[in-house]
Amino acid sequence: MNQVKQEAIRNARLAKEAEQRKNDLIVYLAHDLKTPLTSVIGYLTLLRDEKEISDKLREKYLAISFEKAERLEDLINEFFEITRFNLSQLSLDKSRVNLTRMLEQITYEFKPLLDSKNLQLFLQMETDIEFTCDVNKMERVFDNLIRNAINYSFENCSIKIGAVKKDDGVEVYFENQGNTISKEKQSRIFEQFYRLDVSRGTKTGGAGLGLAIAKEIVEQHQGSITVFSENEIIRFTVFLPEVS
Ligand SMILES: Nc1ncnc2c1ncn2[C@@H]1O[C@H](COP(=O)(O)OP(=O)(O)O)[C@@H](O)[C@H]1O
Ligand SMILES: [Mg+2]
Repeated sequence: MNQVKQEAIRNARLAKEAEQRKNDLIVYLAHDLKTPLTSVIGYLTLLRDEKEISDKLREKYLAISFEKAERLEDLINEFFEITRFNLSQLSLDKSRVNLTRMLEQITYEFKPLLDSKNLQLFLQMETDIEFTCDVNKMERVFDNLIRNAINYSFENCSIKIGAVKKDDGVEVYFENQGNTISKEKQSRIFEQFYRLDVSRGTKTGGAGLGLAIAKEIVEQHQGSITVFSENEIIRFTVFLPEVS
């Protein structure tokens, strides 16, 4: 009984901390949204009002407006990620899938991102591993993990993704080279809105939700997600039990 109570207190504390981080995040986001929007309006106003500007300057203003508009798009996507997270308690819609093909397909979409950091991808898995899951949700899990592996990887390295068939299910892992995640931080990164790098850079400025979403979906499948990190290696492993 005591243990149950302690667990409840701990959960309440974690929820409160996550809530606080979420509030902070929304304040930052709202602030960040204003900056590119002000630029877009500013440069568009110039383009409209200054009749005599050179082609070169016009091009420059257009380029900046475009870049800022894209930044806005990223931030708005982040907002959607936050709202979607709250809707994720829906039930699973399961079907049988070919995991091998699913991973090949998802990784294919990351080719431009991999190239931009000169990363080499190694897919190590048996052909035609089949399993049962909610395909859309599991795609989101893999997408988040691959995106992280790329975002937080050093440049000019390799990323390894593999799937291994076990007696009671299947194991999928994602490995990259980057800053080692300390033992004490390893459990915290699965909390909502938790990030190791608190500065929200343009390139890797996620909301700190990817792993929390992944964990929730994997646990809905009765599976588990764990991290291992040592000597600048980071490996996430997802285990999914075979359920009929
Ligand atoms: N593959 C990885 N390599 C190194 N660090 C990682 C990796 N995946 C996640 N992290 C760390 O865990 C944090 C939380 O990840 P995540 O929940 O996906 O949020 P986000 O990517 O939006 O920051 C990241 O900010 C990063 O510091
Ligand atoms: Mg992420």
